[in-house]
Amino acid sequence: VTVATLQFVPRPGILDLGWGHPRPELLPVEPWLAAQRASAATFGWQALTYGYAAGPAPLIEWLAARTASAPEQCFVTAGASHALDLVAGLLTEPRDVALVDEPTYHLALRILRDKQLRLADASGRGRLFYTVPTFGNPTGRSLPLAERQSLVARAKREGFTIVEDDTYRELVYDGAAPPSLWELSGGENVVRIGSFAKTVAPGLRLGWINAAPSLVERLKNLGYVDSGGGVNHATALTMATFATSGAYDEHLARIRGAYREQRDALCEALDVDKPAGGWFLWLPRPAGLTLAAAERRGVSYVDGSRFQVDGRSGHIRLSFSMLPPDQLVEAARRLRP
Ligand SMILES: Cc1ncc(COP(=O)(O)O)c(C=O)c1O
Repeated sequence: VTVATLQFVPRPGILDLGWGHPRPELLPVEPWLAAQRASAATFGWQALTYGYAAGPAPLIEWLAARTASAPEQCFVTAGASHALDLVAGLLTEPRDVALVDEPTYHLALRILRDKQLRLADASGRGRLFYTVPTFGNPTGRSLPLAERQSLVARAKREGFTIVEDDTYRELVYDGAAPPSLWELSGGENVVRIGSFAKTVAPGLRLGWINAAPSLVERLKNLGYVDSGGGVNHATALTMATFATSGAYDEHLARIRGAYREQRDALCEALDVDKPAGGWFLWLPRPAGLTLAAAERRGVSYVDGSRFQVDGRSGHIRLSFSMLPPDQLVEAARRLRP
């Protein structure tokens, strides 16, 4: 294919548990359209001109309240991927060591490698430490409170910055999400990155950073950020409208219910523990199973090796985000030997 519209390409006959994409029916097409109209009515021409480098005030103010942070600790990005690229670029130099908490989000490994960083596991010394501590990709698990506190203390002691990828925090199905490292640290030695990709829609390319005001200043002063007047101004204003109108919380309640049902269907069919949030299951690879064999049986997943720096793993990652419960039950049947 030389041109395409979407990243995901459906393969006939395959129930695909490989992609961390939203279920198409759960994307808020009509509510977003309503927010676009309301945003145009409220902001008029201001929605269509150059914005403010850190992101427009209506979204920054909402984000600050939502993340219990100060406005000067907030910066709007084109997604969590962009946020990681930006932060890694400002906090490191090529050949520096970035520590990662394995297994971890496989594409974050690529973003860090693109910055020419050397990757190492959590036991070493490094300039930054990338982690997805809440409903993590690929495990679905969360770091316990005591380990959160000791990680924050270690960052202060050793002088590195934790990059807390908090992309899944709002997709909580049981109880409350654990406190963020950002919150526990009081805003020092931690940069938190977030996204509207999983909670609203990945196509918005909209996310955010919580960081010390001095780092936010450096982000604002990046040439292309300043040159462009922020990175996604009109969408950020629409998101502010979507959020402050209550549509965001309504939508979140709806998708939490749906993803909870999907989680329950897959976990019950496989007879495994349920993660309290997020989109993923991390399971020991069934004896003798290969991806090619699974795909011949009409089911797909991502092999665990992709989530490790050294490419070795005895696990597989299943995502329950993209398919309705009945298809997840059928996918589980196809996974059993
Ligand atoms: C942990 C994690 N971080 C970041 C991303 C990408 O987020 P965005 O679409 O906001 O760039 C994903 C998506 O799969 C993810 O799982």
